[in-house]
Amino acid sequence: GREIILSPSLLSADFSRLGEEMAALEEAGIKWAHIDVMDGMFVPNITIGPLVVQALRKNSKLFFDCHLMVEKPERYVKDFIDAGADLVCVHAEATTHLERTLTLIEDLGAKPAVALNPATPLESIKYVLPQCYMVLLMSVNPGFGGQMFIPFVMDKIRELRAMIDAAGAKTLIQVDGGVTPENAADLVEAGVDVLVSGSAFFKFPPYKKRHEMFLFLAEN
Ligand code: DX5
Ligand code: ZN
Repeated sequence: GREIILSPSLLSADFSRLGEEMAALEEAGIKWAHIDVMDGMFVPNITIGPLVVQALRKNSKLFFDCHLMVEKPERYVKDFIDAGADLVCVHAEATTHLERTLTLIEDLGAKPAVALNPATPLESIKYVLPQCYMVLLMSVNPGFGGQMFIPFVMDKIRELRAMIDAAGAKTLIQVDGGVTPENAADLVEAGVDVLVSGSAFFKFPPYKKRHEMFLFLAEN
């Protein structure tokens, strides 16, 4: 079948030693790092900005999967790409001119992606789907790690998989929020390519074993 990727969410990493955490992910054979950017407006929490991304970039070859939970993300797209983001994911709910924002990301040399909150319908991305390297379906209301997976998102994943296949697009499906080794297989079966995991990953070292366990369960 298709390749499944695990993108650990740094939100649950030890922020006092982020550099070491990044190195540990790379040593564990992990390819992606999910970087949660929160502005205190789109979501209640505040996390990290471009300066931290730039600092992490210096010592890391990981694919930086930057999830912007930010109002009017177009204001910061260039800053994150200059800082080393490989992929920039913006929320459809946060940007008025979604097509323009995705084109901006692509023109600046990063992979464009769109995130949808659990209650946001798939119709909002129908026309931009072929332009998206990835669509992120939130399976919790964004803002915090450690929340429970919202069950109706499982149907939404299946619908998105059907939309992508019908369009003949190569768009990846990412799911973020409450992902665990227990639901990984169901998520992949429904059509997910990229699993984000924060608390269910970082709380269970060693990372190499945890990564292998996630992928083994996801693919079986
Ligand atoms: C939630 C963030 C997620 C979060 C996932 O707002 O976008 O990436 O860190 O954490 P878990 O896996 O603990 O639900
Ligand atoms: Zn996220």
